[in-house]
Amino acid sequence: MKNSFWKNKKVFITGHTGFKGSWLVIILRYLGAKVSGYALDPISKPNFFDNLELSKFLENDFRADIKNFSKLNKAIKRSKPNIVFHLAAQSSVLVSYNNPEDTLKTNIIGTFNLLEAVKLNKNIKSTIVVTTDKVYLNEDEKINFDENSKLGGYDIYSSSKACCEILTESFVKSFMNKNNCKIATVRSGNCIGGGDWTKDRIVKDCVEAFIHKRKLLIRSPNSTRPWQHVMEPVCGYLKLAEKLSGKNGKRYVGSWNFGPSRVNLSVLNLAKLGKKIFNSKSKIIIEKKRIKNHEAKYLSLNSKKSFKYLKWKVYMKPEISLKLTFDWFKIFYANKSNKKKVIEFTIKQFQNFKKMIKYF
Ligand SMILES: NC(=O)c1ccc[n+]([C@@H]2O[C@H](COP(=O)([O-])OP(=O)(O)OC[C@H]3O[C@@H](n4cnc5c(N)ncnc54)[C@H](O)[C@@H]3O)[C@@H](O)[C@H]2O)c1
Repeated sequence: MKNSFWKNKKVFITGHTGFKGSWLVIILRYLGAKVSGYALDPISKPNFFDNLELSKFLENDFRADIKNFSKLNKAIKRSKPNIVFHLAAQSSVLVSYNNPEDTLKTNIIGTFNLLEAVKLNKNIKSTIVVTTDKVYLNEDEKINFDENSKLGGYDIYSSSKACCEILTESFVKSFMNKNNCKIATVRSGNCIGGGDWTKDRIVKDCVEAFIHKRKLLIRSPNSTRPWQHVMEPVCGYLKLAEKLSGKNGKRYVGSWNFGPSRVNLSVLNLAKLGKKIFNSKSKIIIEKKRIKNHEAKYLSLNSKKSFKYLKWKVYMKPEISLKLTFDWFKIFYANKSNKKKVIEFTIKQFQNFKKMIKYF
């Protein structure tokens, strides 16, 4: 990907105040794009967006509900984007158990509103709708899901995202045939990276325990995860948006997996790695209490399509992704009053990653 593609491109991001959205804002600004965002205020305190004052990187910073079509459409009209990234969502599986109705409305009606606004705003060349690896029907059968695998969703979050996939496909078929805009959906796994203070995330729990010299409680110490860094799928989305915007854009319409590598690391080893990086004396205690909610034992994506057509692949092993994440938090807590330094560090991480990846 040549950086020149993004120079002065007008980009509209929904969910720009969230974890992935904030990374997208920083990366796109670094690449020279003019970015507008539409989302609710960030929830966690601290949070990436407010603490690094990312609003100053934006052309427009709209704070409104994705369920409000009129406000969304006006915001898009005013921003006149060439490219749209739709990330706004109720993004937590646990929250979806407690608030299923809002999860469904935000994720499904929100996506419909976005697609409808995209249809009406003719200057948009490409749109990426972000769903998740949880959209597949997962019966713990050790399948490596590819883009044609059956959709499903055990919990409400997963099923709402599977609905977004079906909705986007039918919207494209029904209304976008003669439209200039090319639309794709993207599916990636749980990501880690600096700035994710979302509740119930193990990396955040580790960082807070080590920073505040508290004991660290972990459940399922032997559970393994592939721990994909957020820059990996985000750069895949950028590459795909570039292809969709090109003269052969039609070929790239559809769904794309950007899954993590098959290399796993256990929760206990993650905690030990963090402890070492923070030079912490905190005790790691294994909690007996088990999670009641359903969690897939095995979830793996086949991302061969992204490799074949975009040359996209995962570059960093879980240990490296975790090191980058813990390093980021270390810099953040050591420079709380120096936002510039944390932003420079974030950009440095991206510059180093960009040097490593061949498809960029
Ligand atoms: N972070 C991950 O590991 C991961 C993995 C797979 C898929 N995803 C998907 O990627 C996207 C971004 O994830 P994230 O981790 O940054 O989530 P996040 O929870 O950090 O951010 C969600 C964003 O959506 C906005 N939002 C939520 N409800 C809204 C509403 N009603 N109206 C307007 N905006 C609203 C929030 O304000 C925020 O900006 C989501 O669609 C999520 O489902 C994330």
